Amino acid sequence: MTGKNLAGKVAVVTGAASGVGKSIAERLAAEGARVVVADISAGGAQVAQDIGGFFIQGDSSRRADCRKLIDETLARYRTIHILVNNAGFQHVSPIEDFPEDIWDNMIAVMLTAPFLLTRYAWPAMKTQRWGRVINISSIHGQVASPHKAGYVSAKHGLIGLTRTAALEGGPFGITVNAICPAYVRTPLVNSQIADQARTRGIPTEEVIEKIMLEPAAVKRLIEPEEVAEFVAYLCSPPGGVFTGAALSMDLGWTAR
Ligand SMILES: NC(=O)c1ccc[n+]([C@@H]2O[C@H](COP(=O)([O-])OP(=O)(O)OC[C@H]3O[C@@H](n4cnc5c(N)ncnc54)[C@H](O)[C@@H]3O)[C@@H](O)[C@H]2O)c1
Repeated sequence: MTGKNLAGKVAVVTGAASGVGKSIAERLAAEGARVVVADISAGGAQVAQDIGGFFIQGDSSRRADCRKLIDETLARYRTIHILVNNAGFQHVSPIEDFPEDIWDNMIAVMLTAPFLLTRYAWPAMKTQRWGRVINISSIHGQVASPHKAGYVSAKHGLIGLTRTAALEGGPFGITVNAICPAYVRTPLVNSQIADQARTRGIPTEEVIEKIMLEPAAVKRLIEPEEVAEFVAYLCSPPGGVFTGAALSMDLGWTAR
């Protein structure tokens, strides 16, 4: 359901040039929010143009770029109501081969940046006594899979950050939640499918059916628009009852 429930609200969505983040930016804009599209990729400019938003290019792994993202948002819109920490990437390799610089980068982009951006946006949310922080975690924030040490560690950590911030934000009208989706049909997943096919030496169709979707009760990929709809719900008045939650959106993937 689309209305203009977020008219007057300012939203920052990281990793919004592609996939889940792009759908979230589009959905929040459709709801009337003024959306800042944040991404390392120049592709964010087109997304921003299409939704009447504003593009800020930056690398989430750099502290100065996180600071700049919030400072420029505040300079332009004077406040920030919604922060969606979505930027992320995957790397698959066994622990003994896991490149240490990739580990550092995964923690920086998917755990440290959400902390910094929450910290920098917090005073504005606190002052206006309304804020929504939505962290895009994963089923891999709740369970592990082999060869994903960096991703699983960052996504588990993000749930810890979510719970802590929720406890601190409650008295100020700020809710903080993590969404934990199973596999969403995006460029990130398409490249994971190709990686797994290579690592395991099997065809891509077999990776999807027998490995990725094997633990799920309902065997289908999630669409990015379905995650975006849930984000819009969490920003709506009835969504205000959720805070500190790791919300499984996984077709039963983690039920067993
Ligand atoms: N696709 C899935 O199946 C799935 C499932 C669960 C969780 N997630 C999470 O959803 C989020 C979005 O994933 P997606 O599937 O849409 O991937 P995607 O690759 O389509 O989009 C990720 C975006 O993040 C941006 N990004 C990456 N590193 C960045 C950096 N250092 N600074 C700024 N931006 C950066 C990329 O440029 C890209 O636009 C990720 O956090 C991912 O872990 C995805």
